[in-house]
Amino acid sequence: MNTINKSITFKEIKPKIMYYGTPTLLLNTLNEDGTTNISPMSSSWALGDCIVLGVGLGGKAIENLERHKECVINLPSPALWENVEKISSYTGTKNIPTGKEEIGFTYKKEKYEASGLTPIDSKTVLPTRIQECPIQIEAVVKDIRVPEYNSLFAIVETQVLHFHADESIIIHKNHINPARWSPLIYNFRHYFGLGEEVGKTFRSET
Ligand SMILES: Cc1cc2nc3c(=O)[nH]c(=O)nc-3n(C[C@H](O)[C@H](O)[C@H](O)COP(=O)(O)O)c2cc1C
Repeated sequence: MNTINKSITFKEIKPKIMYYGTPTLLLNTLNEDGTTNISPMSSSWALGDCIVLGVGLGGKAIENLERHKECVINLPSPALWENVEKISSYTGTKNIPTGKEEIGFTYKKEKYEASGLTPIDSKTVLPTRIQECPIQIEAVVKDIRVPEYNSLFAIVETQVLHFHADESIIIHKNHINPARWSPLIYNFRHYFGLGEEVGKTFRSET
C-alpha cells in the first residue's frame, strides 16, 4: 500500500546539475591511430535496438564518432566506480576547451592504463571492449545531430550490433537477470549501485 506523506512541501530550485540518476557507461571510440579512447558518460536512453547518447562537443568521443561511426557502450558494475573515476578528469583531445581546462581537465590518451581496465577485441567493430564491464554493446552510429537551440552537445543515435554479457548475469538464454545485474548509477555526481528490488512490470519475462 502506498503511504503518501501529504505534509511534504516542495520548493522550486535552479539546480546546478540535473543528473538525476542514470547508468554510467564507458563509451569506447576509435582514435585516428587505431587505439581506443574511453569516455565516461551517463546521458543515454535505450529503446528497441537503438541507444541514444548525449555527447558533449569539444571532447575526443564526438571527434572520434564523427570520423569513425562505430563504438562500444560498456556498462560497468558499481564495483568499478573507482576505475571510472580514475579517468573522469581526463580528455583524449589535446585541444581542451577553455572552460574544461579551468575546472581541471587534462589530456590523457592512455585511458586503459589510467583506469586499470583491460581491452579485449570486439566481434565486428574496431574500438575494443572493456573486459571488466559485465555488459559490452557493440554499436554503429546512425546519426549525429547538434540541436539548433544548444551547441554544447550532440545527440548521437546508435544501433546495437552485438550485445555481450557476463554469463553469470544471463538468465533464460537471452535475458539479463535483474537480480544479478546492477548498473553503476550516476546520481547527482555521486556513484550508487541499485537498492533492493521493489517490484516488476506485467511484461517482465524473468
Ligand atoms: C560518471 C560520468 C558521467 C558523464 N556523463 C557524460 C555524458 O553523458 N556526456 C558527456 O559528454 N560527458 C559526460 N561526462 C564527462 C566526460 O567524461 C568528459 O567530458 C571527458 O573528458 C570525456 O572524455 P573524452 O574527451 O576523451 O571523450 C561524464 C563524466 C563522468 C565521470
